[in-house]
Amino acid sequence: MAITVTINNETREIDAPGDMPLLWALRQELGMVGTKFGCGIGMCGACTVHLDGQAVRSCSLPLSAIGDKKVSTIENLAQSEVGQALQQAWLDEDVMQCGYCQAGQLMSATALLNKNATPSDDEIDAAMQGNICRCACYKRIKTAIAQVAR
Ligand code: FES
Repeated sequence: MAITVTINNETREIDAPGDMPLLWALRQELGMVGTKFGCGIGMCGACTVHLDGQAVRSCSLPLSAIGDKKVSTIENLAQSEVGQALQQAWLDEDVMQCGYCQAGQLMSATALLNKNATPSDDEIDAAMQGNICRCACYKRIKTAIAQVAR
């Protein structure tokens, strides 16, 4: 039975079991590959998307749990002012190294700044601590977020 989900302001019908994680549905069923697979167990943050504006791990979110909530992915990031500002800050600060985790990093950063436009250093650290970067670009990520938060 198809499951109806609102993704990036579009209604999508996904022909998949309810226990399929959203990450699999995005990548395999909908071809939206901007959201990345890292650990698959909710530990690395690579798969972060927004669910009604909250940063969530799509690898650990079954389709059946989404209901009426709205999903937003990295493909939709540039539609928001904060998302655009963060993308520019990422470029300005030359944040990326391998780039694999960056979609998740940007989604967590956007969720933070949408909730709190002027986070403290500690608040940035707290919001971003679940997003792992194997290249250890943490300092540049934080600088980029602080640039937008000013
Ligand atoms: Fe989802 Fe790592 S792939 S948290």
